[in-house]
Amino acid sequence: MHKVVISGSGLFTPPNAVSNQELVAAFNCYVQAFNQQHQALIEAGHCAPLAESSAEFIEKASGIKQRYLMDKHGVLDPLRMRPYLPERSNEVLSLQAEMGVAAAREALQSAGKQPEDIDMVVVACSNMQRPYPAISIEVQHALGINGFAFDMNVACSSATFGIQTASNAIASGQARAVLVISPEICSAHLNFRDRDSHFIFGDAASAVLLERADTADAPQQFEVLGSHLATVFSNAIRNNFGFLNACDEQGIGKPDKLFVQQGRKVFKEVCPMVGEHILQHLSALNIAPSDVRRFWLHQANLSMNHLIARRILGRDASLDEAPVILDRYANTSSAGSIIAFHLNKQDLIANDIGVISSFGAGYSIGSVVLKMC
Ligand code: COA
Repeated sequence: MHKVVISGSGLFTPPNAVSNQELVAAFNCYVQAFNQQHQALIEAGHCAPLAESSAEFIEKASGIKQRYLMDKHGVLDPLRMRPYLPERSNEVLSLQAEMGVAAAREALQSAGKQPEDIDMVVVACSNMQRPYPAISIEVQHALGINGFAFDMNVACSSATFGIQTASNAIASGQARAVLVISPEICSAHLNFRDRDSHFIFGDAASAVLLERADTADAPQQFEVLGSHLATVFSNAIRNNFGFLNACDEQGIGKPDKLFVQQGRKVFKEVCPMVGEHILQHLSALNIAPSDVRRFWLHQANLSMNHLIARRILGRDASLDEAPVILDRYANTSSAGSIIAFHLNKQDLIANDIGVISSFGAGYSIGSVVLKMC
């Protein structure tokens, strides 16, 4: 079995930053218009008035201050409240592939690798903009990579599941080097008219390059000491969008065809599972939690991360130990923990241990333990 390292990473950040205040202003405009339109029904008790959102609540409940979106005008238009992302001709690189290619190029560059060094491309994310041809094969083609590519979806845990798949392929000799790319356009699956969740997500693409340790010559490399995945079925985070929707006209356009969650339930159920998962993984590798230099945790909710870190360390984690990017990026689904890794690894030194961790719909949980070479 070959030793595997992560030798490069990349990030694509969309151009449109949207603050909580901007998002709330658009949402509240929509609420006021709705309540005005339905005034008679509301007064007669036949329709519940909609409640306004608040930027203070959002920051307090989630830690999110802003997000980056592929399009902000459509989202902030109270008459539309969804991104405007025009369809492209089949001859043009698709939007999601374009985001993935940008992140992948940076990962290649930071690893000092060329497309001909790569044998496998995995696009691992929560939503694919079409079923086929696979987005990954389009990315592979755009980058000029030989070998093979495939898409995989394990919601917010897609990147860690992708890293395990890549790592196994390299360790067993099936591939010399693999790109795992997570281009997330979460704004297109988010219901911006839902007060409970309209603030949760942002868009971004991340990429990591994994390769055999004996071929790596990047200035910073992280050996993959192990990965640990788990899934437990739950309906608490669900999206019923899919190819069967067209077969029942009654369901088309209903809110369940976008992201729906029971946030409180997710919070309560997932935090202990993730804490236990990471503790078990570290224990199996004979690593004490106190010996972990950095936790690149999934970036969904700041209080969740505080709770998880407390469960693992028995005390609060410092920002240095568990860096936060969700304040700027919001929840970017599978890209979140990889963005945290990409932006917060430069200061580590040889033999430092770090843990990438993800959790999300499924439920799905993943952890990857790394040692800087
Ligand atoms: N603005 C103002 N108030 C709001 C609001 C908004 N946008 N949304 C909800 N509220 C209100 C609720 O009506 C409720 O009021 P009440 O106490 O009078 O009934 C109160 O705020 C608390 O609502 P609740 O939904 O319990 O908030 P919360 O503290 O659980 O925070 C989340 C909500 C979504 C931030 C939080 O539950 C969360 O992040 N959960 C985990 C989500 C997650 O990780 N999902 C994985 C996704 S991949």
